[in-house]
Amino acid sequence: MKVFICDCNGEIDIPQNLDFGDGVVVKTSSKLCSEEGKELIANSIKKNEKIVIAGCTPRIAEKFFAEFNPEYVNIREHVAYPGHADGKIRDLIKGAVEKVRISDETSTGGFEIKNKSALIIGGGVAGLETARQVASAGFKTYLIEKEPFLGGTIAKLDRLYPEGMPNSHTLYPLINEVVRDKNIEILVNSELKEISGEIGNYRATIRTRGKVIEDCDLCGKCKEVCPVTVDDDGIERKAIYYRATHPDSYGIDFENCTGCGKCAKVCDKIKLDETEIELDVGSIILATGMKEYDARMIKEYGYGKYKNVFTKLEFERKFANRLINPKKVVIVLCAGSRDENHLPYCSRVCCLLGLKEAKLIKDTDPEVDVYVTYIDLRSYGDFENLYTTVRETCGVNFIQGRPSEIVEKGDKLLIRTEDILLGKTIELDTDCVVLITGSVPDYELLEKLGIPSDGEFPVDYVNSSLSVDSNPRGIFVCGAAAFPKPVAESISEARDVAVTVINLLNKERVDMKTPVADINGDICSEVGCKICLDICPSGAIYSDGGIKVDPSMCMGCGVCTAACASGANQLIGYDDKGLLAQIENTVKEGDILAFLCKWSSYNAADKAGYEKLKYPENTKIIRIPCTGRVDAQIILKAFSCGVKGILIAGCPPDGCHYVSGNLRAKKRILATKELVEQLGIAPDSLRIEWIGTEESKKLVDILNEMDKGGNQ
Ligand code: FES
Repeated sequence: MKVFICDCNGEIDIPQNLDFGDGVVVKTSSKLCSEEGKELIANSIKKNEKIVIAGCTPRIAEKFFAEFNPEYVNIREHVAYPGHADGKIRDLIKGAVEKVRISDETSTGGFEIKNKSALIIGGGVAGLETARQVASAGFKTYLIEKEPFLGGTIAKLDRLYPEGMPNSHTLYPLINEVVRDKNIEILVNSELKEISGEIGNYRATIRTRGKVIEDCDLCGKCKEVCPVTVDDDGIERKAIYYRATHPDSYGIDFENCTGCGKCAKVCDKIKLDETEIELDVGSIILATGMKEYDARMIKEYGYGKYKNVFTKLEFERKFANRLINPKKVVIVLCAGSRDENHLPYCSRVCCLLGLKEAKLIKDTDPEVDVYVTYIDLRSYGDFENLYTTVRETCGVNFIQGRPSEIVEKGDKLLIRTEDILLGKTIELDTDCVVLITGSVPDYELLEKLGIPSDGEFPVDYVNSSLSVDSNPRGIFVCGAAAFPKPVAESISEARDVAVTVINLLNKERVDMKTPVADINGDICSEVGCKICLDICPSGAIYSDGGIKVDPSMCMGCGVCTAACASGANQLIGYDDKGLLAQIENTVKEGDILAFLCKWSSYNAADKAGYEKLKYPENTKIIRIPCTGRVDAQIILKAFSCGVKGILIAGCPPDGCHYVSGNLRAKKRILATKELVEQLGIAPDSLRIEWIGTEESKKLVDILNEMDKGGNQ
């Protein structure tokens, strides 16, 4: 093993005669981050030597040495800058040396980008735009759509959200470009059955039903004989039908087709069979858009029971086709949204969708009386103009309040609603009601792709995939599949994702980020608790005969390792034996041991160093990926080594880099306090705190308080 110690251009006084035991060679330098310094380290790596680097904070050192995957010791910000004695340098390095000596080998690993191609799921605007961009960079692109036609939901709409531009302005040119591009293979009536593999090397099994009807001359005989009538969001059609997008042929709606075969008898071009193909791709993009929340679930509004209560899509289609001619319309915003019984969240775009419907009615027939009920109206950004136009120019009436009930009275509907501004309940009669419901994601596909959603849109997954620290999966979500958004935003997001995919496919290999968890199957199978399966925030743990970790998905938080009672699950680089050895060799009787999260409180400690803030010299800091890695075993070890206090500090409650590692840590630490108390140790000597990067003062105050024996 080699220990490289840098004095950072003379900023650190390195103690003389450092000796870390057998087989450990110490090398000092004044500028390890220079080309010569890096070469020194590279030579050691070539000789398969384990490496410890002591010098500046790892936040900076990682810029220079990440590919060597060393163990870092921060002797500048955490010793020299706060003015602590150089004996602490010896302790911190000794702890790191013993950790590295006993730990399993860490390997940087990586993934080859073998398949220079992408699979895009969803043929709406987001999928079309992603396909167009990826293919234009020269990569083979497969675009699959489960419906028989491209275009997604907006192909059914009369006008685009929110200003009301006809959909043809955007959709038709986009479809034409995609169809023209020889790099794009379009598969309609096709669904993802399963995937296997990893980034750069996925195999996707695609199920296709009744391929495109080649050379269809649109004679319509198939439609005439089809016995199945379908209510397609307000418009009746047959199970075989034509939509003016792509392909330019009749298409079969296999959700409703009974497979009777009558259409195939009148046209030999129609095939009803099912095929499966396998595609080898390097990256997968989910762009399936959003689904409307099922309005039938809101029983008190009578959808499905009263014929004139519509969803927004049904109303828009019926109205555009003059299938209804109401004289009075009530539009109910937030139908089932921000409601614990239905969707607890706000779908963001529904208020504007409601305003669009109101404007569309008034643009078509200014004589129609239009009312909008709302809880809070959210017309964000420039769309305030749309609200003003709808209210002032179009003369739409707004009532603040959530309707409690809708009932049918003759050929009218009666709506009971609170009117917050009038302070009373009112009744409105109307010809029809439009329910503006929220949206839900495609849970089935999220699960197939291993994207955790927690019953809502996969916002956490999308956010975490923005982090450069996240492991590369090569699976992305864009457009309204990630969260409801307008068409313009979906297209812009599709372009961002396409750039990421193109960058990925241009590479020959991507490095695996460390640390990652690893499971010893022999130990695990004996216990079989499967606790880690449920708590992994990135869905990286799966059951496949035994419990396994997908290293391409693991983000290295260590939450699963801390939860594993058997010790089968170890976070490589932060495994139990390594951390226990580090603690034993770092701390002395009477020390305070601080486990600081590398995303937050560790940076606060660095900042305290820059600010020359004073805190006890007997504070020893260990950098951890997340507070969620700390478990009872680690705490008990530290107390058994004689520390007088332990601080676990991490990101604020909603700010954990791994979603909820900090909250899990809090639960665990509170439980451990009871254990500690049973051992005769004051429970207040164990603290868990939220300390952000900027909160150096808070950190220092807590450490000073702990040194004096103060309570939480
Ligand atoms: Fe900071 Fe979880 S990442 S506490």
